[in-house]
Amino acid sequence: MFEVEYVGGISLLKRLFCLLVVVLLYGQTALGDTHPTLEAADLEFGEYLSSSCTSCHLISGEESNIPSIVGWDMEGFIHVLEAYRNKELENEVMQNIALSLDDEEILALAAYFFTIGRDEETE
Ligand code: HEC
Repeated sequence: MFEVEYVGGISLLKRLFCLLVVVLLYGQTALGDTHPTLEAADLEFGEYLSSSCTSCHLISGEESNIPSIVGWDMEGFIHVLEAYRNKELENEVMQNIALSLDDEEILALAAYFFTIGRDEETE
């Protein structure tokens, strides 16, 4: 009797451990080496975050002194923000903004700005 319970306890622990590994791996690959996909991104979250960008970057895609960020492909967008984040790109304002964003937020923003650009093209 005791033995059966003991074995059951071990396998439950193992199962929990596997679950933990899966969750950790999934978290790491959210922005990882595979192509970023719209499906993986949270568009509503991106729209919410975008209000902190559109005070400078015009949502219409027009360029003023500030370049347009609407309709970029997601990979390019993520790459540029990562480059600001690790200071390969020089603009201090964008460096600070990029540093305040985590991978999930960058992915959501990339998807959102890509999507609104695409909508304009098809309309
Ligand atoms: C205070 C104004 C300001 C805000 C707010 C701002 N940006 Fe920028 N952003 C700039 C400027 C200025 C540049 C051009 C920098 C340069 O010339 O290197 C830029 C450049 C960029 C670029 C590269 C564009 C290109 O053509 O090279 C991306 C992508 C970008 N911003 C994304 C964002 C995102 C995403 C947000 C919101 C989280 C954001 N920016 C918020 C001012 C801003």
